[in-house]
Amino acid sequence: MSSNQNDVVFFDENGLRTDGRKPDEIRPMKIKIGVLSRANGSCYLEWGANKVLAAVYGPREAHPKRTQRAGQAIIRYRYNMQSFSVEDRARPGPSRRSSEISKVSREAFEPVIISDAYPKAAIDIFVEVLQADAGTRTAAINAASLALVDAGIPIRGLVSACAVGKVGGKIVLDLNKPEDNYGEADLPIAMTEDGKITLVQMDGNLSPSEFEEAMELVQKGCRQVLEIQKAALMEKFAANIDFDETVA
Ligand code: CDP
Repeated sequence: MSSNQNDVVFFDENGLRTDGRKPDEIRPMKIKIGVLSRANGSCYLEWGANKVLAAVYGPREAHPKRTQRAGQAIIRYRYNMQSFSVEDRARPGPSRRSSEISKVSREAFEPVIISDAYPKAAIDIFVEVLQADAGTRTAAINAASLALVDAGIPIRGLVSACAVGKVGGKIVLDLNKPEDNYGEADLPIAMTEDGKITLVQMDGNLSPSEFEEAMELVQKGCRQVLEIQKAALMEKFAANIDFDETVA
């Protein structure tokens, strides 16, 4: 969040945002499931100008062996931002930011992955950010969720993620880069299909009533994302289902 936020114009005379969206509108999302043949599951996702690729491996024997857990699979999540994904080249390799995002994203999935089905195994989720335009952690979670399904990992439901924030005094959904840079607050969340919130982070300041408004709006955003995720799954997998062969 920048201190020169007062100089930035976030809305036009019709109340639309700099990219033409209404305050409660998310950016367009495009999804392709199963793009990598060597991974057990994969997903390429574009959200606005964000481009991310998720790959899932496993369940497979966890290595090193000391990381194995007797009664369940371990879940590992690696979020990585490519050097070329941002305006100023990102320094390659792990950073405090990527470690933090990897940790909270793994925690966002832990409640939905049925890990006790695979003792001593590892489920690896890798996400590469190819192009970043604010909201990469939420884009990555949405892609990872579908890559898990593509890998056949048993889950209790999809995880959908979206950010909400405050710009120019207004609560808006799914911040783009200028809004993220110069806005007053940014709050990414992840949510399960049955409405449980598995990630909440916040950068900036919101009053308690603004926070409530933001939480309400962002859950609507997650529901919109969920519908898009489900449509992508239908497109990928429904073609293989013969609906005429009804099971008695
Ligand atoms: O991407 P996300 O909103 O989840 O995380 P952020 O830390 O709030 O970063 C917001 C945006 O800043 C990213 O999406 C990138 O567009 C940009 N960024 C960057 O240009 N260089 C970095 N080293 C990190 C982030």
